[in-house]
Amino acid sequence: MQYGANAMEAAMHRHQSKKDNTMDLGIRGKKAIVNGGSAGMGRSAVLALAREGVDVFVSARTEDRLKKTCEEIAKETGANVTPICADHSTAEGRERILAACPAPDILVGTCAPPPMTPDYREVSAEQWRSAIDISLLSPIEFMRAVIDGMAERKWGRIVNIATVAAKYPAEIRLLSGSTRAALTNYTVAVSKVVAKHNVIINNLLPGMHHSAFVEQQFNERAAAKGITYDEEVAEFSRAWHIAAERFGDCDDVGDFVAMFCSQQANYITGQSLVIDGGATTSTF
Ligand SMILES: NC(=O)c1ccc[n+]([C@@H]2O[C@H](COP(=O)([O-])OP(=O)(O)OC[C@H]3O[C@@H](n4cnc5c(N)ncnc54)[C@H](OP(=O)(O)O)[C@@H]3O)[C@@H](O)[C@H]2O)c1
Repeated sequence: MQYGANAMEAAMHRHQSKKDNTMDLGIRGKKAIVNGGSAGMGRSAVLALAREGVDVFVSARTEDRLKKTCEEIAKETGANVTPICADHSTAEGRERILAACPAPDILVGTCAPPPMTPDYREVSAEQWRSAIDISLLSPIEFMRAVIDGMAERKWGRIVNIATVAAKYPAEIRLLSGSTRAALTNYTVAVSKVVAKHNVIINNLLPGMHHSAFVEQQFNERAAAKGITYDEEVAEFSRAWHIAAERFGDCDDVGDFVAMFCSQQANYITGQSLVIDGGATTSTF
């Protein structure tokens, strides 16, 4: 798919920077759980960690795609990449994931983006409950389950892939933004308690990135208007004032997951980094 000249140039830069990347993140041999890792930014996070020699345990609900992703990444990186078919928003799913990797050094949490909400009056209580289970309670329950062990072992890294809408609310991202605003609030509070044990908790707040979810949504929007995916992305980028004038790639987020899981990140905690191509404006 062509994303335009800027995106092509960006992809070339990224490829180049990977080839030139000699920084050792110091996490070879660590164990990571990546919840929601078969596609999109979760997949990119798995790939970035596997490239660093981390053993990765990956959860997702759709078995075929999960197995394929794990096989591809294991083949490309030589790392151990273990699929766990489970819904991480359920207690049973969480048990299965933690049984496969009971003492992770690294925890990364993501999910499919909650549905768009074009009219605040039409968001049902059922939709709120579902979004809260998936986007808020699930990462909280995982953190509760793994933090004590990380603190005892004096090493832990937790990264939640959330959303820019947590910091910059928009009606269309009510379910996604409100639940992650609560999640980022929670993680900052907890990060203060465990920093002294070298357990580091941060959040990434992505803007618009070409993921499976976005491609499906924007193909539908484009079809309804009789235009192409690229044209719809360009129109959206203009309307939402994305300074880079394009959507990001999932690797733009995945690579930062690995950075926030590195030894080097030991003094950065309770932070929420916006990765949005300059769509939002804030001096700090
Ligand atoms: N893409 C964007 O532009 C964008 C913008 C802002 C924020 N975000 C945020 O970034 C995160 C990732 O988005 P994405 O676009 O990369 O999503 P995606 O391409 O839809 O991938 C989501 C991944 O999570 C898995 N998953 C979803 N629900 C799960 C569950 N309950 N249990 C286990 N696995 C689950 C999916 O596999 P299965 O479906 O097989 O389970 C898939 O592997 C989300 O938190 C989203 O809100 C994305």
